[in-house]
Amino acid sequence: MLKRIKTSWGTHTFTISLLRLWLGITWVYAGWYKATDPQFLTPNTSGYIGTQLANYQLNSPISFLLRHMVEHAGIVGLFVMLSEFAIGFATLTGFMLVYAALGGLFMSATLWLSASWSVKPYFLGSDTAYIVMWAVLLGSIFKSSRKLKLPNFTDRREVISLASIAGLSILGVVVGKVFTRKAQSNLQSQASSNSSKAIAKVSDIPVGKAIQIQDAQGAPAYIFRTKAGVFAYSAICTHQGCTVNFNSGNSHFQCPCHGAEFDPSNGAKVLAGPAPSPLAKIKISVQGNNIFLA
Ligand code: FES
Repeated sequence: MLKRIKTSWGTHTFTISLLRLWLGITWVYAGWYKATDPQFLTPNTSGYIGTQLANYQLNSPISFLLRHMVEHAGIVGLFVMLSEFAIGFATLTGFMLVYAALGGLFMSATLWLSASWSVKPYFLGSDTAYIVMWAVLLGSIFKSSRKLKLPNFTDRREVISLASIAGLSILGVVVGKVFTRKAQSNLQSQASSNSSKAIAKVSDIPVGKAIQIQDAQGAPAYIFRTKAGVFAYSAICTHQGCTVNFNSGNSHFQCPCHGAEFDPSNGAKVLAGPAPSPLAKIKISVQGNNIFLA
């Protein structure tokens, strides 16, 4: 197996090898980054894949696809993680390299049409550069072998190679989960240190208005002031996880995705739209003029 990996690197020029190394390392790191992210698969957090997809669909030309993906966000998130690991490992080992390059090209194009579609000017989003990099690697592979070889499942070596890539990808996700717990506990200790700092002043919030804050996990939230006091709510819509906006005209929270509306002067109760429940309450405490996360 090691001999095959070594041989695969010998078939490229130095520049293509450098490109392949960069792409392989970056894709493995992308999978690892998601696997260790405590929010990526956790609904109702700002980093949740469903929240990200719901926000991307607002401006994306493939919003019809993203809308379906939001409904199965957990599975999509897992698939994305495994695919990034698989593409990265296949690129580094050279097993099924042509399929890894095709997969990388497809994923980069999908990310460009969703995550970085609204980035202006385009060169500030990295996905266009990755599309070109994968296309160059693919072109070089086609130039040297000239034909697309389908996997041969009767060849024992190919089956072992495929199984190794799949196994490494699953292992990456599992090991990532172990480190996620550490990241989570870091978040928790950060949250407890945050709770000792004032997050806002009551006098800065006029009655009937809201200010944006972050909750203990760093997710977007609001503090709203009524004559009776101040109340904090998560800004994550309870329908499909988009971030709600505060409309200072009618003092309601409004979701830009499917039009849900919430009344912050009445427990963030749903006033309109498909949201099934009020916005989540966030515990705060008020000491004098200062507001703290409880
Ligand atoms: Fe659908 Fe908010 S995500 S209404």
